[in-house]
Amino acid sequence: MEDKRGRPLRDLRISIIDSCNFRCNYCMPKDKISFAESNFLSKKQWLTVDEIVKVAKLFTNLGVQKIRITGGEPLLRPDLPEIIRELVKIPEIKDLSLTTNGYFLKEKAEELKDAGLHRITVSLDSLNVKTFEKITSQKKVLYKVLDGINEASAVGFSAIKINTVIQRGVNDQDIMPLIEYFKGTNIILRFIEFMDVGNINDWNVDSVVPTKEILNIIQENYLLEPVEPNYYGEVASRYRYQDGDGEVGFISSISQPFCRSCNRARITCGGLFYSCLFSSKGFALKPILNQPEQKILETLKNLWLKRDDRYSEFRNQSTNKVNKAEMYKIGG
Ligand code: GTP
Ligand code: 5AD
Ligand code: SF4
Ligand code: SF4
Repeated sequence: MEDKRGRPLRDLRISIIDSCNFRCNYCMPKDKISFAESNFLSKKQWLTVDEIVKVAKLFTNLGVQKIRITGGEPLLRPDLPEIIRELVKIPEIKDLSLTTNGYFLKEKAEELKDAGLHRITVSLDSLNVKTFEKITSQKKVLYKVLDGINEASAVGFSAIKINTVIQRGVNDQDIMPLIEYFKGTNIILRFIEFMDVGNINDWNVDSVVPTKEILNIIQENYLLEPVEPNYYGEVASRYRYQDGDGEVGFISSISQPFCRSCNRARITCGGLFYSCLFSSKGFALKPILNQPEQKILETLKNLWLKRDDRYSEFRNQSTNKVNKAEMYKIGG
């Protein structure tokens, strides 16, 4: 099954909760969404564990082999271990991963490993206490996140990834400290170009630090060479240190869009289906989940067959005015 641009469906990202204990300025700026915000979906509106499993199974019928659990902050959802235990039972799912801010990882890493989660990715934008507080709008969180990453490693997660969104004038001084911290550790650091997801993060092209610039900074210190993608549709371009100290990745949605191989679908915690990270509107899947399976599959298939998204290929300043889903709802 291919969409209008010949792209198969392989990868499903399921956001299981839209709330978060951080207020990263590029996702949920606290002047727009306060800590007291009550606008998040209530537990009753979330897809249940059974519904999540049902959605996952339906999508495997259409070609999905890889699932990533996202949020908001997925570790805030109490039944996360149960969700994982059920999803890993689906034989077609070859890869089950999770993206977290890492704050609760010290307490929860072992339970997630025991539940059968394959891989974990932690967002971390700075090693400087002040900068980290400025970005996340939370105090005393950096060392907890770093402990969480260590714990994930200690309980046996391998190929842990770190996601670092670089914003000019905010954390562009943090590139080399992060490189030094993770080089030689088996943990894969990835630099992400700041994207115009949603409508509330005041994105501006001047605050994007292009991958090329980040690569140049690193290469003043270390020799890097490109590595082939791990799988078709991988969004990160990979580089390895020539001295054998591991690899680093770059996600360059702004400077080098990767829509051509985009095989991803997204589901929000309230059960909306999105065919692109930048879609204006989602399709309400939750209300039709009690229909006969063939009928739901037909609906999903039709949604994919008419998919024509390639937002990042024609992004410009005016597209920033289009109504888009917020990152904490759609899960990245
Ligand atoms: P792997 O399975 O380890 O390759 O994970 P991943 O890199 O696909 O997922 P992750 O949640 O770590 O996402 C990394 C960054 O890439 C986040 O900023 C996402 O928002 C962004 N991203 C992921 N998929 C897409 C996509 O299809 N389009 C765009 N524009 N950005 C994406
Ligand atoms: N641009 C780029 N990456 C973002 N993320 C959240 N918001 C943005 C944005 N505006 C990243 C988070 C997380 C991943 C799912 O998406 O850092 O690691
Ligand atoms: Fe929370 Fe992640 Fe958004 Fe930061 S980027 S506010 S950690 S959901
Ligand atoms: Fe896929 Fe949309 Fe991202 Fe392009 S912008 S890679 S179509 S999710």
